[in-house]
Amino acid sequence: RCSGEIFTRFKGLITSPNYPEHYAENSKCHYTIRIEQGFQIMLNFTSDFNIERDAFGQCTADVLKITSGQKEYGPFCGNRAPVIRDHLSNVVEIHFSTNGESEGTGWKIMYSSTAKQCPVEILEHNVLQPKNSDYDYKDSVRVRCESGYELYDNVRNQYIDSAMVHCQKDGTWNSSWYSCRPVDCGNPMALRNGKRNVTSTVYQFLNTYSCDEPYYKLEENAIFECAATADWVAVGTSDGTLPNCKPVCGRTAISDDTGRVFGGKPARLGYFPWQVRLRTYDGKVGGGALVSDGWILTAAHLFDGSRQTTVHGGIVNLQGLSPEKALPVEDAFLHPNYRPQADGSEPNFEHDVALVKLRARAKLGANLSPVCLPAAGETSPLRAGRLGYITGWGKTEVRDRPIFLQYAEVPVVGMDKCRGLDYRGKRPRFTDNMVCAGQPGTDSCQGDSGGPFVLRDLRHPSRHVVRGIVSFGPQQCGSYGVYTHVGRYLAWIVKTMREHGSWEDEETRA
Ligand code: ARG
Repeated sequence: RCSGEIFTRFKGLITSPNYPEHYAENSKCHYTIRIEQGFQIMLNFTSDFNIERDAFGQCTADVLKITSGQKEYGPFCGNRAPVIRDHLSNVVEIHFSTNGESEGTGWKIMYSSTAKQCPVEILEHNVLQPKNSDYDYKDSVRVRCESGYELYDNVRNQYIDSAMVHCQKDGTWNSSWYSCRPVDCGNPMALRNGKRNVTSTVYQFLNTYSCDEPYYKLEENAIFECAATADWVAVGTSDGTLPNCKPVCGRTAISDDTGRVFGGKPARLGYFPWQVRLRTYDGKVGGGALVSDGWILTAAHLFDGSRQTTVHGGIVNLQGLSPEKALPVEDAFLHPNYRPQADGSEPNFEHDVALVKLRARAKLGANLSPVCLPAAGETSPLRAGRLGYITGWGKTEVRDRPIFLQYAEVPVVGMDKCRGLDYRGKRPRFTDNMVCAGQPGTDSCQGDSGGPFVLRDLRHPSRHVVRGIVSFGPQQCGSYGVYTHVGRYLAWIVKTMREHGSWEDEETRA
């Protein structure tokens, strides 16, 4: 009489037989609550609960048990109403069995039901419309992704703007084939003479640029973040331009291994990595100094004949020089005021400065790297007594054409020392745009022209600065020579390099 009853309403009342009178002995009751799928049943016992315990106080005499899906509750007995806080499934079974002994007044359950709820987050990084604090069975919602993410349909394999999803009976959304994928900024721009460093190219990941140390140094923005717009955006700066790997200038591997060109000694690779060798089309040879990765500073008079020149850098040994190893030259720029024969007869080396532009920026390294240019304003005469290095493949005491690059340390001296020399009867001009340097026994000589006279940077003692360019001297080498005062031409040098300072193969910067 108490078995097989099925409750199908969304809420209802179930009691033990005869409730609130005593229930019968030796009975086995079974009730089922079965409501529509997608709904959950909640059970509420009223407080007048009374089921007989056994002699030991245990629930073996008369027993109430409840099961729902995998969940089991009970056995219950005694005088205190059990509390079940769980939401049960849409099917609940109630078993009540009594023995032959004395009995209690039984129990009363009020049950109710709610639709099973779906989670308020459907996908990671989703944006839901409408945005509710809870979602029930049959609710629909439009899914989009938050900024920086895009909705992807993993079944059709395509990105979509939004999707309509529904809360299903089992409390899940029919959204399993969607995901919010972070936008992908793709590979960040390559950096000339530097490296990218990314762990991922998607939204909010960082790319940190670095330069090929120690020959290049980073300038400006180093850190970029993948933005919601799928662009790499500089972190913490207003302009989003790529950083620059600027050549580090003036580095030398020379220690205090001083040589005393003329009175000099052979240089090793890396001692004067800026030194290059020039040979013009009409056979004039000389030196030059790399002052950036694309420009060579040299003397204008080397180009009195031909403007075409072959440049070799990163070497000390002239043996085995081949045209293929040359640094291709784009153009030569002579100082506009340079006039080899100003008054028509006497030699004139004033403004003896030229720049040679390479056809492509050179890759810098231990054997090839630029010398520093003077700072702006270093235009006054160099202090007599300051020591600097001269370098070149010019004539020495024992050879007209040495094979190894020679170097020597010479002091700056007063211009009178140079004026007083024998120029085979000619009277060259001397001006403040020139520097006189050398000492008896140590000098530059024929073939050294265009090469640098470098001084230690007093503010950064590890750096060398080109302060002179081998320009002219008496036929008889070995005392003093005249050098172009580079500091007086800085403005022209900077202007020329800037005006002609782009290379075709270079990516244009944002
Ligand atoms: N004009 C010479 C050349 O073409 C440089 C001479 C330097 N002479 C001197 N005694 N310092 O190489």
